[in-house]
Amino acid sequence: MSELTTPEILLDNLSTAVILLDDKLRIQYANHNAQTLFERSLNLLVNCPIHQVVATSSLDFGRFKNSSHYGEVYSDSEVTFKFTDGRYTQADVSVTNMADENKSQLLVEIRSVEQQKKISQENQQRAQQRAARELVRGLAHEIKNPLGGIRGAAQLLSKQLVSAELIEFTSIIVEQSDRLTNLVDRLLGPNLRPTFSSHNIHKILEKVCALVDLDLSHNVAITRDYDPSIPDVYIDQDMIQQATLNIVRNSLQALSEFPEIPGKIRIVTRIERQVIVHGACFPLCAKIQIIDNGPGIPAELQNTLFYPMVTSKKDGSGLGLSISQTLIGHHRGKIEVESWHGRTAFTIYLPIDKKETQK
Ligand SMILES: Nc1ncnc2c1ncn2[C@@H]1O[C@H](COP(=O)(O)OP(=O)(O)OP(=O)(O)O)[C@@H](O)[C@H]1O
Ligand SMILES: [Mg+2]
Repeated sequence: MSELTTPEILLDNLSTAVILLDDKLRIQYANHNAQTLFERSLNLLVNCPIHQVVATSSLDFGRFKNSSHYGEVYSDSEVTFKFTDGRYTQADVSVTNMADENKSQLLVEIRSVEQQKKISQENQQRAQQRAARELVRGLAHEIKNPLGGIRGAAQLLSKQLVSAELIEFTSIIVEQSDRLTNLVDRLLGPNLRPTFSSHNIHKILEKVCALVDLDLSHNVAITRDYDPSIPDVYIDQDMIQQATLNIVRNSLQALSEFPEIPGKIRIVTRIERQVIVHGACFPLCAKIQIIDNGPGIPAELQNTLFYPMVTSKKDGSGLGLSISQTLIGHHRGKIEVESWHGRTAFTIYLPIDKKETQK
């Protein structure tokens, strides 16, 4: 390794995005991580003013100028960047003036806090799911036992009755007991064991699209952006179909609240490497993203979204996402969510390694 290339290699291997700005706040250099963050190559970034690579940001560019003119060191935490393609990210930013007599240069370091947030979101989701499962299991036991008794007694009683009117009452008791049992079973979540076999995830996604096609209003369009190189995945196809359908339906329902705005649902598939799920690292995962341009998830629901019976809908049971999470959990995968006004993205990761999914 020659001495000259060492600093560049070091910069490109940093987990922080590093850019160098001139006194007009034009980018002069961007390390590898910055190019990934801005999704542009170095050629496209050089001489590009910083405010052109981000659509909006909560960063105060005026403070950049102060840094440049008066040598102030400036740092800000949890800055929100919105990019021109609709992506958002949150990062800690620090700006250092590297001026000498000839020119003024600013070194900007951008450290993404997304990863940390995702890990804490994942832990929170797991804890929620575990607590919900315990609660529901306990409740289900307490509800189902007496219900069985009530139902049996009503059936016995109906055999003793002759009046059709009274028999009608007992059948209401049986019917309503069954309804409650059904609700408790749905709350417990699907308890079938998955049956794994190799499937093309795109075929499953096409089925989901066909299923929601009937519910599509003329003002909502679904677009696909598939990576055809994704190999077949060892999964239970019905489970993955149900998990994805619940998410696409939610997008559709969110968009239908605003029929005046053209609704867009984008289904994106990619291969993702080195994905960490509940502390285990999977070398290869299929990533399925469902992105809509709807109003976003209500702030008060964001932290309890995967909990059963959490809903903002008049007639919603609040079970869709909790079921999706259980189903994806059977595949040792995970669901992540990012939601802002105008962009909600659910991301499902499914490990591709056959041996891993069979465990
Ligand atoms: N794409 C989305 N955009 C906006 N809000 C969403 C989106 N997806 C989910 N939500 C919010 O999350 C809540 C929970 O969703 P979930 O699917 O678990 O239940 P539900 O849709 O209310 O009822 P169910 O799916 O059981 O019919 C929804 O009520 C909605 O407020
Ligand atoms: Mg739903």
